[in-house]
Amino acid sequence: MTTSALADLYDPDTYLAGPPHEAFAALRRAAPVHWREVPTGPAAPGYWAVLGYAEVEHVLCEPELFSSEKGGVVLDDLPPDRLAQMRGMLLAMDPPRHRDYRRPLAHRFTHRAIAMLEGRVRDASRAIMREAAERGHGGGEVEFVGEVAGQLPTRVVGELMGLPREDWDYVHRLAEALNRGQDAGGADRAAAEGDGAGGGGGEGAAAPTVEMAMYAAGFAAGRRARPPRDDLTGLLLAGDFGGRTMSDLDYGSFFVQLVTAGNDTTQTMLSSGLLALLTHPDQLADLRADPSLAPGAVEEILRWANPLHYFRRTAAADAEVGGVRIRAGDRLATYFTAANRDETVFADPDRFDIRRSPNRHLSFGKGEHFCLGAHLARLEGRVFLEELLSSFAAIELAGPPVRVRSNLNNGLKSLPVRLTPA
Ligand code: HEM
Repeated sequence: MTTSALADLYDPDTYLAGPPHEAFAALRRAAPVHWREVPTGPAAPGYWAVLGYAEVEHVLCEPELFSSEKGGVVLDDLPPDRLAQMRGMLLAMDPPRHRDYRRPLAHRFTHRAIAMLEGRVRDASRAIMREAAERGHGGGEVEFVGEVAGQLPTRVVGELMGLPREDWDYVHRLAEALNRGQDAGGADRAAAEGDGAGGGGGEGAAAPTVEMAMYAAGFAAGRRARPPRDDLTGLLLAGDFGGRTMSDLDYGSFFVQLVTAGNDTTQTMLSSGLLALLTHPDQLADLRADPSLAPGAVEEILRWANPLHYFRRTAAADAEVGGVRIRAGDRLATYFTAANRDETVFADPDRFDIRRSPNRHLSFGKGEHFCLGAHLARLEGRVFLEELLSSFAAIELAGPPVRVRSNLNNGLKSLPVRLTPA
């Protein structure tokens, strides 16, 4: 395999027609770890593309050796202001600091704790379906990504953090502006939206990020003045994070972290999930006939249409992965898109199969940084699907879906559908 085929993995245009699964498979079979040269820009001189399931697991499960703090999340090196913002985020911390921050939060995100939110996630999903039915009344179309799928994550974060309901729309608009800014070339998509020489640098997302952090800091200050409540905000404000408590600004940055980590990814899972089912009508019919298939359908959506292509690490010391020598300071991209279709782990990996079992996909990562919101995302996925299918007797594509132009986000920008209420 020539490096020119691999060179395309950094180019956002490569992903416009869908992930390059054939190229990923050919590369992975040739070798599970490849050097990809990026001659100029913020990802220069290049990075290791980690494509095999075992190799992705290996990198994710050695957080000291493959650091998130020395350069994580996106392939591009970030400008100093964005880097400073990232430093307060779990995603960009290494152990032991990472453990100090994560430990006090973990029990709020366990399967059992999240299951208690089911009623509220269901109420929010029902309200969204009612609004969608009104919008699509009389055979009209709805734009499913923004008008339906994108509505759920902010309402759920609002519930989780105990935000006043009258603020939800405002927070939603900020989250949308933040995503739009990133689409236009912001830091989280700098590699994605840039021209290969980076571009962007976070300007598009910076203003809504700061506004959201300031809103949340103000909310925290108001909460401190009142008796403590038993929600995530109460826990954060009283928590001990490695001998430190959270300031209002720390809270603001944590809030932005939850919204950036959870919103786009969940919206993608919900909208790509519907598209996967619409393009596999036999499985959609099976799911309608037997709603107990919903949890498996969510797992298969996550494997087959994983919302994020990769996350980055930086080698803290010389190392070896998949028989390849990695040097201290090298970037690595762990490609979930490739690992989730590794034929040594998944039988017939390109087949979308809502009954697939076992389904040990890596879409939530693995090890130290395993997605804190995984149980929440799964709950949202299942409840949203159940409510969608019981609210609408027919769901049809009303036009071609448009994909996000990104090498990081495996999502849809728009999905026009026609909804017929049940
Ligand atoms: C971490 C994916 C939803 C909060 C991660 C990681 C992945 C991921 C792959 C690991 C990052 C790494 O290894 O560097 C997803 C996907 C989601 C989703 C595919 C939806 C389908 C959510 C939600 C929340 C959330 C709903 C919270 C509301 C977080 C946080 C981290 C994280 C805080 C950082 C954990 C750490 O570094 O210890 N997510 N996520 N995620 N996710 Fe999610």
